[in-house]
Amino acid sequence: DRHFSRQNIIGSSPAMTKLFEVVEQVSPSEATVLIHGESGTGKELIAGMVHYNSFRETHPFIKINCAAITETLLESELFGHEKGAFTGADKKKEGKFLQADKGSLLLDEVSEMPLSMQVKLLRVLQEREITRVGGNTVVPVDVRVIAATNKNLTEMVNKGKFREDLFYRLNVVLLEVPALRNRGDDIPLLAVHFLTLFSEKNRKKIKGFTPAAMDCLIKYHWPGNVRELMNTVERTVVLARSDYIDVADLPMVQRQPLPENAFDIRNSEQESVRIEGVSLETIEKTAIIKMLQAVNRNKSEAARRLGITRKTLHKKLKQYGLMP
Ligand SMILES: Nc1ncnc2c1ncn2[C@@H]1O[C@H](COP(=O)(O)OP(=O)(O)OP(=O)(O)O)[C@@H](O)[C@H]1O
Ligand SMILES: [Mg+2]
Repeated sequence: DRHFSRQNIIGSSPAMTKLFEVVEQVSPSEATVLIHGESGTGKELIAGMVHYNSFRETHPFIKINCAAITETLLESELFGHEKGAFTGADKKKEGKFLQADKGSLLLDEVSEMPLSMQVKLLRVLQEREITRVGGNTVVPVDVRVIAATNKNLTEMVNKGKFREDLFYRLNVVLLEVPALRNRGDDIPLLAVHFLTLFSEKNRKKIKGFTPAAMDCLIKYHWPGNVRELMNTVERTVVLARSDYIDVADLPMVQRQPLPENAFDIRNSEQESVRIEGVSLETIEKTAIIKMLQAVNRNKSEAARRLGITRKTLHKKLKQYGLMP
């Protein structure tokens, strides 16, 4: 599958290089792999990389999202069911374990699996055989399990929300996918990769990002990680009207989070203003952002109310990387 080939998985930061090394090392083994990382970091891609670099690559790579289905359905989704096993089971059905036979099965959001299912899963991993819901024949399965989660499973084990024995069974090899903000070197690569991708897709001829826009992408904290970057670039490409994407085109600039403990302009008419420990620059920047929000981004009005000229406002916006 091309989607999972190394050239479509971008990353040359030290953190990703290290991760790819471990992936190459563990893929050919039969070890169960647990992939941990924040939402949108690329856990599914890494899971695919493990499968397509293993001796199972010509066999199926099957995925199941453990959070998306109810407990009763999950069991039949995983293990299948016999005809008449429950209301609505009008045909015998094979579950994901059998579909993935000789291949790999990705248990996504494994933390959301109910405890009762966790027991059943553990048994399957140990015995290497399944029983369909409503049946009693035991069917052998040859499946490599890859589990993914954005939760801290150790913490869940401590709280009794995840079975310790299953945790150890899944956690044979742990792959930690770093948050995007911790691999700044990859941001330009990913941004350009997505720009090319979405420019082609939307038949637009966008040449790149201005240095200020790229700087902004690098400095943003990306809570939604690669997925958020991808969506940001797609949206920007669709809306772009010039050859180069500039700061003003970036959606995050418009809703840049204010620093904690920030000067609040609503308090400016009151006696006490919380400004201890805040730099003059932060106060000024915050005041400008707040004022622009208050006047619906009307720059002349904002400048007038801030008591500065339009030209000064422009200079400051540029200085703080807020807008052109
Ligand atoms: N290194 C990368 N190179 C190219 N594309 C990437 C990379 N990492 C992630 N993506 C893309 O970002 C999107 C999110 O990745 P993925 O679905 O693997 O994340 P995830 O960690 O499984 O997220 P979630 O926790 O929300 O399920 C996908 O479209 C994927 O193709
Ligand atoms: Mg995922």
